Amino acid sequence: MKSFTRTLIAVGTTSVVSIAILFAIFGSPLAEAQPTAAEPQVTKQPIQPDGPAGTKPPPVTQPDKNAPGPGPGESGATRRPPPDPAMNQSTSSTNTGGPANPAVPAAPAAGAPQRTWYEELAYRPIMEDGTFWMPKAVNIEADDSDRMFYAVLGLSAFFFFAITGAVIFFVIKYRHRPGHKAQPSAAHNDALEVTWTVIPTIICVFLFYYGWRTYVRIVTPPNKAVEVQLLAWRWNWNFTHFNGVEDSDLHVPVNRPVRLVMTSKDVLHAFYAPVMRVKQDIIPRRYTYAWFMPTKPGTYRLTCAEYCGTDHSQMGKTADGRRAVVVVHKEGDYERYLADKQALDGGGDPVEHGKRLYEKKGCTACHSIDGSARVGPSFKGTFGTEQAMADGSKVTVDENYIRESLLTPNAKTRAGYPAGAMPAFEGQLKERDIEGLIAYIKSLK
Ligand code: CUA
Repeated sequence: MKSFTRTLIAVGTTSVVSIAILFAIFGSPLAEAQPTAAEPQVTKQPIQPDGPAGTKPPPVTQPDKNAPGPGPGESGATRRPPPDPAMNQSTSSTNTGGPANPAVPAAPAAGAPQRTWYEELAYRPIMEDGTFWMPKAVNIEADDSDRMFYAVLGLSAFFFFAITGAVIFFVIKYRHRPGHKAQPSAAHNDALEVTWTVIPTIICVFLFYYGWRTYVRIVTPPNKAVEVQLLAWRWNWNFTHFNGVEDSDLHVPVNRPVRLVMTSKDVLHAFYAPVMRVKQDIIPRRYTYAWFMPTKPGTYRLTCAEYCGTDHSQMGKTADGRRAVVVVHKEGDYERYLADKQALDGGGDPVEHGKRLYEKKGCTACHSIDGSARVGPSFKGTFGTEQAMADGSKVTVDENYIRESLLTPNAKTRAGYPAGAMPAFEGQLKERDIEGLIAYIKSLK
């Protein structure tokens, strides 16, 4: 019995030391992560989208270690442009909050896509602390599940080291040696058996109770949640807000519960926002739900967590290589976003709308508007002309031809240009977008 006690002490000490080493190396999971020297300071700045022009941190390319350089048909010129200081003045209802810096030129660089204030937010660097542990939760309901996770992880680590330690200890202590005879083991030990039944039972009941309580909260959204529809398909997200505004990034207000009503056009996908600790499958022909309540404004990762084909890991990637994000707006900005985006998408000049799409969807990379040929033909003066196709036929560039070239570009290929170079925009453009692009190309005389 004395050796049993000694074993227990040895095993306990080993376990505690092992866990202490884990914490020493990786830090405590529940502590606020400290910025490391390598991290760009810009990610630590408080969110001030409306700060005086010129004092904003420059939009830095999101950390994306796997991002390739400009690929075929994607020239360097279409990548992230320099920050546009005039951005804050571009939207009528932006309250810029301070005088514009006179030293900053007001005109954007020629050809650079002009982003709205809410697009600027989506293009900010991801605001997640990178440590060994999970990024700090931004969902009010996530603390309980985090505690559960770390409790189970801690228990598993403890028993892993305790059991392994005991096995090693006994193997050495009772190894076969000359002069020692093997002894029959006891068939029964009531005290021991009661102990190893009761203690794990108590632990399991606690885990069950807290797990169940947390689960019930996670699946039950509060009554007055902001509802957002999510339609997923290979390989895009489309969020629709209550006023009809659609976006490929998820914009939500801070400190208000958000409920997602989700379905898929094709295969299984899963909505996963790591800082929200929300991961929910999205199923074709059925609605699934998720909810969270963001506690801190910022720009966070949004990924697909169900393998859905070739571009699963790139789901929602924009033409210029940015990943889809969750933008948590500070107080009042969500309403501003809904109003501004609705004004921009829903009304206005179709030519302007087409021009914006031409810049935003990456058309600039292959199609010039000054008559020079790039990977594809220039848009300048092309409308209404008759053009030779690769198969020898002749086609007039009219509304039907442009529409077909947008949706199924490989149906006809212009003579002298590579076949299959143009991506199909089927399913990515709304009717209004197609009308806008046609109007824009028409306007380029
Ligand atoms: Cu969508 Cu994986």
